[in-house]
Amino acid sequence: MQCTILVIDDEKNIREGLGASLQMEGWNVALAENGNKGLERFGKGDIDLVITDLRMPGITGEEVLSKVMAQNPSVPVIILTGHGSIDSAVDAMRNGAYDFLTKPLNLDQLTMIVKRALQGRELAIKHRELQEELNSSKSFESIIGKSSEMQKIFQMVRKAAKSKASVLITGESGVGKELIANALHNLSDRKDNSMIKVHCAALSENLLESELFGHEKGAFTGAVNRTRGRFELANNGTIFLDEIGEIDQNVQIKILRVLQEKKFERVGGEQTLEVDVRVVAATNRNLLEEIKEGRFREDLYYRLNVVHIHVPPLRERKDDIPLMITSFLQEFAKESGKKIEGIDNRTRSALYKYDWPGNIRQLRNCIESAVVMCSGNVITFDDLPPGIVDDSDTNTISIPTGIPMAEAEKILIAENLAINKGNKSKTADILGIGRKTLHRKITEYNIE
Ligand SMILES: Nc1ncnc2c1ncn2[C@@H]1O[C@H](COP(=O)(O)OP(=O)(O)OP(=O)(O)O)[C@@H](O)[C@H]1O
Ligand SMILES: [Mg+2]
Repeated sequence: MQCTILVIDDEKNIREGLGASLQMEGWNVALAENGNKGLERFGKGDIDLVITDLRMPGITGEEVLSKVMAQNPSVPVIILTGHGSIDSAVDAMRNGAYDFLTKPLNLDQLTMIVKRALQGRELAIKHRELQEELNSSKSFESIIGKSSEMQKIFQMVRKAAKSKASVLITGESGVGKELIANALHNLSDRKDNSMIKVHCAALSENLLESELFGHEKGAFTGAVNRTRGRFELANNGTIFLDEIGEIDQNVQIKILRVLQEKKFERVGGEQTLEVDVRVVAATNRNLLEEIKEGRFREDLYYRLNVVHIHVPPLRERKDDIPLMITSFLQEFAKESGKKIEGIDNRTRSALYKYDWPGNIRQLRNCIESAVVMCSGNVITFDDLPPGIVDDSDTNTISIPTGIPMAEAEKILIAENLAINKGNKSKTADILGIGRKTLHRKITEYNIE
């Protein structure tokens, strides 16, 4: 973000000296010789930070502060003051000034304060933007996904929901398969009827069979009553067969029959029952491998796989990470009653780079635990659970082959910026390009 700083001081030397030194740090600078002109300039709306003298003829620094606060409270105001007026500076802090400095000015100290203030403003803006994005249309049936991969899945879900075709959802653990299954039901004409979920892996073969199809009284030891199975309960609705890759051959045949003929018998029963059930199945196994190994029936696979939705792992759709972080942060901050305004850049970048083997479930748990650990109002690296590495000090960048030059350049710039913690002058130096060129490319490639 290229920031513009407004310096208001009636003393020409201070105003111009300050302006020059801020410009050397890479910021845009606007100068004003009195409060009136300063406020006029501020009114244009592009100022990110204000540095104002307190004692000036005409409009005072206090008035400048109160007008700026009224117009845009997210713009930090830094007060400059002579030795004699520290009390007024303290008052100004009470009225919302970000910090104050006494003259003669220590430029290093000023630069540090400005950097910190701008960083805070940038974090707050980023967090707000993500929140706004989240509140707009980027989530679908409470599934967050602005990446093109997820947008394609949403399209498929919308279409598939309207049909009765069986759907097979595949993907690693924690990618959101169950959320997709829920969406398929909720967007279908069956939404007012039941959605019945069966965790196939949790039950032994015999139990699973009676769970799915029900049993007659006395069908086996312990079958004291006739019991309806999940397929019956799901009549006119949807059945979700989770972890379908775990079920036994014997049960596979019976499920195949329901899919083909819509018919089955309860365990120990003779009466044939007919149901109208939409089947959605999920697995994190590779069923084609299972077929090769002789563990899964090929005919059942093709019956289940009329529509196939593969949910890619989070590491292949990193564009979804920032919105997810914001959403989980909002959720857990609310739950714990903490006022958390965002997450610092180093931590955000570590979360972005991490591989997330446990996918969204792991990211969610990570944010939940960070919110618990966080003692301030910004999540920092120390709040993260162990295992998430901060590799901002290592210097290798991996650029996949077969991508366009511009894409490679974007990665190179973004990674170097992250490694240098956002320091643009340093990044420009390392890359051997001018700072202006770097700024242009950052805007062009939309690098955060
Ligand atoms: N796109 C998403 N947006 C928001 N939350 C998500 C998303 N995907 C997954 N989650 C959350 O992550 C967790 C895991 O999701 P889910 O249970 O659907 O995964 P799964 O693929 O069924 O995993 P498993 O194979 O282990 O059963 C849930 O808390 C879910 O709400
Ligand atoms: Mg699941």
